[in-house]
Amino acid sequence: MAAIWYRQTGVSLVVLWVFLLSLFSAIGAVKHGDFKKCDQSGFCKRNRQYADTAKATANSWASPYKLDQPTIKLQNGKLTATILKSLEDSTELVKLPLTVSFLKSGVARIEIDEEKRQKGLIELRHGSKVRKERYNEAADWAIVGGLDLGAAKIKASDKTQTVVQFGPDYTYEAYIYHNPFRVDFMRDGKVHVKLNGKGYMNMEHWRPKIEKPIEEVKEGEVKEGETKESEAPAVEPSIDESTWWEETFGGNTDSKPRGPESVAMDIAFPGYEYVFGIPSHAGPLSLRETRGGGDEKYDEPYRMYNSDVFEYEMDSPMTLYGAIPFMQAHRKNSTVGAFWLNGAETWVDIVKSKSGSNPLSLGTSSSIDTETHWISETGVLDVFVLLGPSPKEIIKTYTDLTGTTSMPPQFAIAYHQCRWNYVTDEDVKDVDRKFDKFNIPFDVIWLDIEYTEGKKYFTWDKQTFPDPLGMQKQLDAHDRKLVAIIDPHIKNAAGYHVSDELKSKDLAVKDKSGDNIYQGWCWPGDSHWSDCFNPTTRKWFEGLFKYKSWEGSATNTFVWNDMNEPSVFNGPEVTMPKDNVHYGGWEHRDLHNINGMTFHNATYTALLNRDKVPKRPFALTRSFFAGSQRLSAMWTGDNQADWSHLATSIPMVLSLNIAGYPFSGADVGGFFGNPSSELLTRWYQAGIFYPFLRAHAHIDTRRREPYLSGEPYTGIITKALRLRYSLLPVWYTAFYESSKTGAPIVRPNYYVHPDDETGFDIDDQFYIAGSGLLTKPVTAEGETKVDVYIADNERYYDYFDYSIIAGAGEDHTLDAPLDKITLLMQGGHIIPRKDRPRRSSGLMKYDPYTLVVVLDSKGYANGTLYIDDGESYDFVDGAHIYRSFEFKDNKLTSDNLSTSGRKTKEYLKSMSKVRIERVIVVTAPSEWESRKEVSVLQDGKKTKTQLFWHKGDGKKASWAVVGNPGVFVGSSWSIDFS
Ligand SMILES: *[C@@H]1O[C@H](CO)[C@@H](O)[C@H](O)[C@H]1NC(C)=O
Ligand SMILES: *[C@@H]1O[C@H](CO)[C@@H](O)[C@H](O)[C@H]1NC(C)=O
Ligand SMILES: *[C@@H]1O[C@H](CO)[C@@H](O)[C@H](O)[C@H]1NC(C)=O
Repeated sequence: MAAIWYRQTGVSLVVLWVFLLSLFSAIGAVKHGDFKKCDQSGFCKRNRQYADTAKATANSWASPYKLDQPTIKLQNGKLTATILKSLEDSTELVKLPLTVSFLKSGVARIEIDEEKRQKGLIELRHGSKVRKERYNEAADWAIVGGLDLGAAKIKASDKTQTVVQFGPDYTYEAYIYHNPFRVDFMRDGKVHVKLNGKGYMNMEHWRPKIEKPIEEVKEGEVKEGETKESEAPAVEPSIDESTWWEETFGGNTDSKPRGPESVAMDIAFPGYEYVFGIPSHAGPLSLRETRGGGDEKYDEPYRMYNSDVFEYEMDSPMTLYGAIPFMQAHRKNSTVGAFWLNGAETWVDIVKSKSGSNPLSLGTSSSIDTETHWISETGVLDVFVLLGPSPKEIIKTYTDLTGTTSMPPQFAIAYHQCRWNYVTDEDVKDVDRKFDKFNIPFDVIWLDIEYTEGKKYFTWDKQTFPDPLGMQKQLDAHDRKLVAIIDPHIKNAAGYHVSDELKSKDLAVKDKSGDNIYQGWCWPGDSHWSDCFNPTTRKWFEGLFKYKSWEGSATNTFVWNDMNEPSVFNGPEVTMPKDNVHYGGWEHRDLHNINGMTFHNATYTALLNRDKVPKRPFALTRSFFAGSQRLSAMWTGDNQADWSHLATSIPMVLSLNIAGYPFSGADVGGFFGNPSSELLTRWYQAGIFYPFLRAHAHIDTRRREPYLSGEPYTGIITKALRLRYSLLPVWYTAFYESSKTGAPIVRPNYYVHPDDETGFDIDDQFYIAGSGLLTKPVTAEGETKVDVYIADNERYYDYFDYSIIAGAGEDHTLDAPLDKITLLMQGGHIIPRKDRPRRSSGLMKYDPYTLVVVLDSKGYANGTLYIDDGESYDFVDGAHIYRSFEFKDNKLTSDNLSTSGRKTKEYLKSMSKVRIERVIVVTAPSEWESRKEVSVLQDGKKTKTQLFWHKGDGKKASWAVVGNPGVFVGSSWSIDFS
């Protein structure tokens, strides 16, 4: 939900009037003026200038950072040394301690700090009491493993360089050059990643402010150190000091008690034309050039500063609600990556250039180098270099560090019905009944902020929600759930227990004095913000979710964390001032991008701890950081009922998936505005392939529950939702496997076909995990055909009628009238599904399965199926079924993949009657025509069952059905077709 607060009673009329005026001038478009451009963000501008200077003087440029050779030590996989930064105006050398950790996984971690700040030998301005160190706690939030040191040895060392061998069998090498300091990472004798190759490294060291007389700058004049737009960048290193000590934006002055302290580095990927990642941005999966690329939409660096961006625009490097500073570079036969672990405001410039000048990249498939420039406002420099070599390994090593998605409860991957707002408990019950009346499945209904009493979270509006428990009881009758919103702003109101405790226990974020509780505006009007960086706050916050404490909540209540960037309506860039103070004495600027995550961390823990026997939590978050994937689902925020938003949702969700955050989706239908029936229908047909599937709508929009659309739309939407439910076994298995490996759940072409160069740029079609299912949603008005790109030589089959689509490296035009979902099955897979329509996923628990066996050209197929109780942690103790299916030599077999534990036996018993009711073999050989039976072997017993063969017609594949083979999903068995 967005920062529109004009509905708020209690906001003064003048403020309201001013706000409305500003709103009318900007309807339907993002307010650029609310958010900084690079040259309005002092440190970004300074570092871009730094890069310009380095570039303009390339021949004479010397990066002022050099490694002090005698300090180099390598011990137990860790290299330490001191980098010395020389200054122009002083003979002093700034000491920057360096650590390079060579991890077991083959990842290299480079950390650079600043000795003076580390030791607290600096003076703060304005009597500030904040911490003197550079922020060094981002890793505490983001990293959960993968830090074991591996073997590393020095291969060669002289005055100019130190070469370290590391990684698997010492096949990786780090060429550490001493003066200037830079590092080339090699794999297979080639450079894949270069740090500071361009010399853009910049650690703004601490210095005292020298008071100078203030010069008046007249309009039109150029300030010292600045250049006019039309002039070439200064050749001499010039430093724009104007934003060192103070910076004003949108009427708010940032006091910067520690002065300038940005960190920046260039990271180049020689021979790599494509880079992906650094979500969330509303644009293509393949990241665009931001300097000199000629695309005027991309003349700003990609920005990461979690923000409540009202009516965000498409095709833009502007920041959005969450940030994962992880990028991967891809080319044929290789993927590498960089993870820039920093929680402060961060900008990334991307430049692609012909690599003729780089002899080391000769012989690679691309002659393009991608050069990136990472710029953060504060913090230590902490970057992880990942050497791949495949997309699968990159994501594995990244999620070894930051964690994988936790296994969600099953309802969470079914359909969620949301709106701002279901206005009464009767309204909720009515929607619940209407879904049943129209036979449309749904699992979860959501309550936005209006359910509370005056936006006081953990309360219910007694007029409109007099009986929340009765409401939830009705939902529970069909195993349905409620999600209620709980935001981090706390209404400043005496007598509101949450507010009273927040103050009396001193648990809120402070203003720049460090003493006073910060006060700002949000939904409830005058508000405070709970500081979930403080473990005591988290503990207290968790307590608020106890059933006793949150009256009206039930075991089927789950939670939505919105506005956690945090959104502050009257704050700079709609968030908190950067000089606000958090627990531990850190400034808000240090950890802004991590803020949202602290909040769903607490929510997750709260839901985990509210029951005696813990159940799997479900929380949705808007703001996120690297590691958030462990704790909650996310969505792409406040989109619009517009075709372009539907289209862009796909690369956005793919970008999150390849950056370790699979549990993601966009609001189906679009949040702002009223979708046409066609758009709404197409959005459902696409949305059923988001890992997180929720429809949502703004309070000013017309009601649009699927049963309201009328025919043919309601019927088509119902069919789409039933398809999602039918394929829940595929989704659930994908979540399980992703929770083990970190693998994306929806996969772009480059991930599945890493050697197919033609497909690297494709981001409007995607695969569902390893199931071989490939979809291409229609995302344009009036479109009745789609072009599906097929990368490989396998045959593909239409999911519904088994039409054959084949031909590698080309587009295939398929009919896609409004009632058609383009869904293909790649040969070689076995797809489990459940075909009986039910009201909710919980009611499908004991339903039988259908297996669709799609043979490849060699008559082979395989697949997996994971099942558990869908809500508890018993699966950890073996209460699950994990099967591998294989069709080979005319025989279909089911084998056990699970390891048993103390709860296995009991669980298998509870599932012992769940059967496979049908096996469909697509592209069944013609020899089967005369075959009337197949033999089934289970528990040592052989039986016969009927086989029905259907002839294809050249365009459609032949197929065969085994009806009721009498085999069980938890058992080992085989069906012999020969
Ligand atoms: C929440 O964050 C704290 C502090 O970083 C961490 O110790 C804890 O493990 C996190 N909780 C979860 C559920 O990840
Ligand atoms: C592909 O990558 C592998 C592993 O890095 C390497 O051994 C092989 O030489 C590469 N092949 C080509 C054609 O580049
Ligand atoms: C399934 O078959 C593919 C292709 O032959 C193979 O790469 C993959 O490892 C197999 N998976 C399992 C689980 O056996």
